[in-house]
Amino acid sequence: MKAGLDDLNPEGRRVLVRVDFNVPLLEDGGIRDDARIRACLPTIQELRSRSARVILATHLGRPKGKPVEALSTRPLATHLSELLGSEVSWCSECVGPVAEAAAGALADGEVLLLENLRFHPEEEANDPGFAAQLAALADLYVNDAFGTAHRAHASTEGVAHILPAYAGRLMERELAALAGILESPSRPLVAIMGGSKLSTKLGVIDHLLPRVQQLLLGGGMAATFLVAEGVSVGRSLVEPDFVARASEILGRAPSLGTEVYLPTDVMVAAGPESTAAEARSCLVEEVGGEEMILDVGPATAQRWAELVRRAGTVVWNGPLGVYENPAFAGATRQVAAAIGESSAVSVTGGGDLQAALESLGLASKFTHVSTGGGATLEFLEGRELPGVEALRERVALP
Ligand code: 3PG
Repeated sequence: MKAGLDDLNPEGRRVLVRVDFNVPLLEDGGIRDDARIRACLPTIQELRSRSARVILATHLGRPKGKPVEALSTRPLATHLSELLGSEVSWCSECVGPVAEAAAGALADGEVLLLENLRFHPEEEANDPGFAAQLAALADLYVNDAFGTAHRAHASTEGVAHILPAYAGRLMERELAALAGILESPSRPLVAIMGGSKLSTKLGVIDHLLPRVQQLLLGGGMAATFLVAEGVSVGRSLVEPDFVARASEILGRAPSLGTEVYLPTDVMVAAGPESTAAEARSCLVEEVGGEEMILDVGPATAQRWAELVRRAGTVVWNGPLGVYENPAFAGATRQVAAAIGESSAVSVTGGGDLQAALESLGLASKFTHVSTGGGATLEFLEGRELPGVEALRERVALP
């Protein structure tokens, strides 16, 4: 059993909170999407209101163990101050005497953000000495970084074995939503898989195949399944090494009682930059030799919208088309809108689909939009997440 914020008394205590503020940045250094920061606000606000001294730690990007100015967390502290409507202090170090002094100077209810954890190679190496240095900053540890829970790093795993460790509100919400799909979904359970590469989704498809009643396969990876069915897909991106696996999945599904749906029609054009006027819809058997499949077609999207309207639960990972181009966002929009109108429990695994739903203004229609990318995929593959396991094996309260 994991302990959560209901199990701790943070009043007047320094609480090290591992957050995942690894947000996409704009070229000028601004924040492109602050969803991950906003998702941690409930934990931060609750700890503040319960008079904790809050020390936030995160990574940002992949600086490979060295300071990289463009990946400093400083602008995140400014942004968080605006979101909280109160000053968040920032420390130019994440461990050592400077960080200890900053943590020690906090008053009850105050918030401090540390510099990027990954400026130190010891973070990703899960170095015990580095974990001890992080632990020295605080009395208690809260992990709210679901998006990084698949990494066994010092701040996500090591420190949980040193300080009394608790799951934050976002961590609890993510785990409850995703576990609900695997353990006790309201049926029928429909999985929608999209995105460009089948190779990155095979583990999830394998794990979900016996659990779902219907599996809808769209996105670029559908082309690999179509090739497995003997369909010519023109210049569409295909992963030749995975055609045999695609075939095996399609062959295995009936014995599991799972209905697998591939697109019956598609949107095609010369390439992802083509305009709507240059695109056409056609049956999958009619894709020209010089054409690329760039979205699921309208008849398929309508059929899939009907299926999700009748679903008890929908889990969706990966966009159905090249949604960045409005000419190829139609199926993602239509199916997402149908989910929004349905009474199904709907959960999406973050990454590209989250960005697609945000840009279509449909993210708020979902029951749960996961902040995880790799972490969500690994959870849905049935793998243990080191950051979550460490909370189970936590140090008992003194
Ligand atoms: C993510 O964006 O998936 C997490 O923040 C983990 O980042 P990483 O893939 O660089 O470990």
